[in-house]
Amino acid sequence: MILVSGATGGIGGEICRLLGQAGVPFKAMCRKPEQVEHFKGEGVEAVLGDFDRPETLDGVMEGCDRLFLITPPTPDQVEQEKAAIDAAKRAGVARIVKISASDGNIRSTVPWAKSHALIDHYLRDAGIGWTILKPTAFMQNFFWFKDPIAKGFLPQIAGKGSVSWVDTRDVARVAAKVLTEDGHNHATYFLTGPETLDMKEAASRLSKVTKHKVRYLDLPNPIFKAILRLTGNSRWMANGLVAQFSDVVAGHHDIDPTFEIKRLTGVAPRSFTDFVRDHRDAFVRSN
Ligand SMILES: NC(=O)c1ccc[n+]([C@@H]2O[C@H](COP(=O)([O-])OP(=O)(O)OC[C@H]3O[C@@H](n4cnc5c(N)ncnc54)[C@H](OP(=O)(O)O)[C@@H]3O)[C@@H](O)[C@H]2O)c1
Repeated sequence: MILVSGATGGIGGEICRLLGQAGVPFKAMCRKPEQVEHFKGEGVEAVLGDFDRPETLDGVMEGCDRLFLITPPTPDQVEQEKAAIDAAKRAGVARIVKISASDGNIRSTVPWAKSHALIDHYLRDAGIGWTILKPTAFMQNFFWFKDPIAKGFLPQIAGKGSVSWVDTRDVARVAAKVLTEDGHNHATYFLTGPETLDMKEAASRLSKVTKHKVRYLDLPNPIFKAILRLTGNSRWMANGLVAQFSDVVAGHHDIDPTFEIKRLTGVAPRSFTDFVRDHRDAFVRSN
């Protein structure tokens, strides 16, 4: 039995879909009763568990031999994942498949990159089986800017820096594969898309697919940060995103394509053009 956390999120939701399609037994972990009811209504076994309430985790992990572990980027991420790892160990889970980040580094100025590095170290040392997936930046991050993109602008602070963008559907495909196969214990996989694109090229692909001109606006950091704050991001998140794009991306510290997705699943990852084509409507309609 596999326990899938983050079942209501992008990667976790896609894993549930893939496991369901393959007829693999799994339980979807959610933190709200209405989410559990929604899954049950779809014929999916679902359980209530909250990483902020470790007392809820022992019961949900009982009888599970694999755990898909994902948490959103927040200041509580390290504590949440440590609590999950401890509970999994108590429940006798054999292996955890964890979503980490390709730029994980305990000296990073990016808060979630530092958190993932700390959690990766904790997990490797926990005396439980593990597989660590380290994706680069998600193509789905472009949804953050769908309204300005629909108006013809891609606001960023990445200079000429580039990213080997990966589609979360491909990350989920790898996760579903390594959750259901042996031979991945104590393995760390760096997951990327098939090519490395800077923001100018990303804007050009958006223009081609949507058939309206999208210009990359390379903004000063304070203006980008103000936009993030005005669109509802916390100060912590806004500072982190500024560090992510101006230190890591503009500083040319993203990784090259690794081709691991094709090697692990037999199917090549989606290109950025594929991603935009699949979500064309989101980038042409402004709210
Ligand atoms: N964005 C990127 O480019 C990128 C790149 C590499 C790695 N990553 C990593 O990928 C991970 C996923 O990020 P995301 O923002 O894309 O996730 P997401 O799809 O929004 O999923 C987060 C999931 O966690 C659940 N959750 C939140 N708080 C919880 C709690 N206290 N207990 C149990 N479940 C909880 C959410 O449930 P609700 O529906 O109830 O909120 C949701 O299902 C992060 O660790 C991030 O650092 C991101």
